[in-house]
Amino acid sequence: MILNRSIIIQRLINKFDFKTYLEIGVDAGKNFFPIKADRKIAVDPGFRFGWLKKLVKAIRYPQNFRAAYYKMESDRFFETAAAKALHNKPLDLCLVDGMHEYAFALRDVENSLQHLSDGGVIIMHDCNPLSKEASYSWEQWQTDKCAGFWNGDVWKVILHLRSTRQDINVFVLDCDHGLGIITKGKQEKPLSFSPAQIAQMSYDELAANREAWLNLKPAAYVYHYFSLE
Ligand SMILES: C[S@@+](CC[C@H](N)C(=O)[O-])C[C@H]1O[C@@H](n2cnc3c(N)ncnc32)[C@H](O)[C@@H]1O
Repeated sequence: MILNRSIIIQRLINKFDFKTYLEIGVDAGKNFFPIKADRKIAVDPGFRFGWLKKLVKAIRYPQNFRAAYYKMESDRFFETAAAKALHNKPLDLCLVDGMHEYAFALRDVENSLQHLSDGGVIIMHDCNPLSKEASYSWEQWQTDKCAGFWNGDVWKVILHLRSTRQDINVFVLDCDHGLGIITKGKQEKPLSFSPAQIAQMSYDELAANREAWLNLKPAAYVYHYFSLE
């Protein structure tokens, strides 16, 4: 089976009886709607669906009748709405898949960590760009009229967390454009870059140091790490 974010998210929810699922960056809801969890929260300033699709998806997947939708940027969500959206309970699982730029994605992870339960998991999409174009800034991507899949420089968040936080473990699964996995606990292989160094790094440097910098693991490592059967 080819692993992707949707499969892994649902396996984790089922295995650990996770109650709360937050998705930052939902787009058309391709991943969000089918996920089964007690409390689902969607955050996106530009959902690509309206009330009719929400209703149709709730009829098809009844867990969506209780889903909460926040049409706003993630920074505003965390500032104004997160505690209420979570009913002041801890967050069990979060998919960070909003604006794919270093500073934005880093804030999303750090804000999610503030709410994360002790056994909770953050999954960050797009951590392993396979071409220079895919890792462009959004501005460059648009200027060059690139087509295909844009990952941005989310990969820098992995280096930042591995260099600055000793209270979380971070690795990237080699599937689905690179799934960053962040859990509480001891960092298995810390790095020692400063944020200023990371900001200056290029795609070519990533390409030359991919395995070590991303702590890249084969996709099947997820079974071992979380004891999934
Ligand atoms: C790649 S899509 C998300 C795909 C979705 N998670 C999935 O798996 O199907 C990225 C989404 O992030 C949203 N986005 C952009 N900036 C954002 C921000 N600051 N906060 C939250 N979402 C943002 C965009 O509107 C877009 O819908």
